[in-house]
Amino acid sequence: MATDTDPIEAVFEVVASVAPEIRAGLPGRRTTLDSENVTGDTQLAADVWADELLSDRLSEIEGIGEYASEERETVADVGDGYAVALDPLDGSSNLRSNNPMGTVVGIYDGSLPTSGQDLVAAGFVLYGPITTMVIAREGQPEGYVIEDGTRQSTGPVTLPTDPTVYGFGGRVPEWSDAFGAYVSEVQDELKLRYGGAMIADVSQVLTYGGIFGYPALASRPNGKLRLLFESAPIAYVVEQAGGASTDGEQSLLDIEATALHQRTPTFVGNESYIARLEEAL
Ligand code: AHG
Ligand code: MN
Ligand code: MN
Ligand code: MN
Repeated sequence: MATDTDPIEAVFEVVASVAPEIRAGLPGRRTTLDSENVTGDTQLAADVWADELLSDRLSEIEGIGEYASEERETVADVGDGYAVALDPLDGSSNLRSNNPMGTVVGIYDGSLPTSGQDLVAAGFVLYGPITTMVIAREGQPEGYVIEDGTRQSTGPVTLPTDPTVYGFGGRVPEWSDAFGAYVSEVQDELKLRYGGAMIADVSQVLTYGGIFGYPALASRPNGKLRLLFESAPIAYVVEQAGGASTDGEQSLLDIEATALHQRTPTFVGNESYIARLEEAL
């Protein structure tokens, strides 16, 4: 990898350039492996394959020192520089039903595990009817359409001031009473949009305004989403787009991870809905 490139830019170039390869590789990799990842997810062949592909390409970048992903138990030391934390395929259970999925990337200036305060950039690719990407780095996030592995800018990404959609994960009987009461208010105000892939649901919030979340559940007191690979990177994007994030008490970026695969209740979206949620919980 050329040494004069900016490693952060190089990471997003790689993630964009492999997007067509990942899309093309999905049809043949819908099988469920009999392996589980460290957070107990059943792994699809596509999960493991996308992780290998991205790890190989990203580890070559000069200035990237650590590679970690949802699919790997430990952090791989790949040299000196930034730490890259990936969810190689977010929403991979949507592969069977052919619903949208994504790739989430966080770039941390600090050894993992750390906190979202160490994020210097974050972004995601959404494999939907078309392939889109959002990159947040030092301020205003930017949107892209990916064609043949190259990014075409579609301009700045700013959360709309009038919220329209909401989506919350988990089974309703497993929600806390306080959260259930909050959702009863929200459902009278916004339209339900929940598709089972965080990235696709967050893309709807970034496009139409509103709130997405995966709350603490009776069976999962820390919720389902992983702080370093999903929640913090997406909080970074949404906060830089003018929104807010919370685990119910604080910005997701302020949570100090003590474990690489730590989960957290996760909510991102318009500030008014985030503030009301923190009041309600
Ligand atoms: P992943 O496929 O990377 O494991 O992530 C799945 C996550 C997230 O994308 C989504 O918001 C959530 O799981 C959906 O969970 P439910 O299937 O419980 O709704
Ligand atoms: Mn998974
Ligand atoms: Mn995920
Ligand atoms: Mn995943």
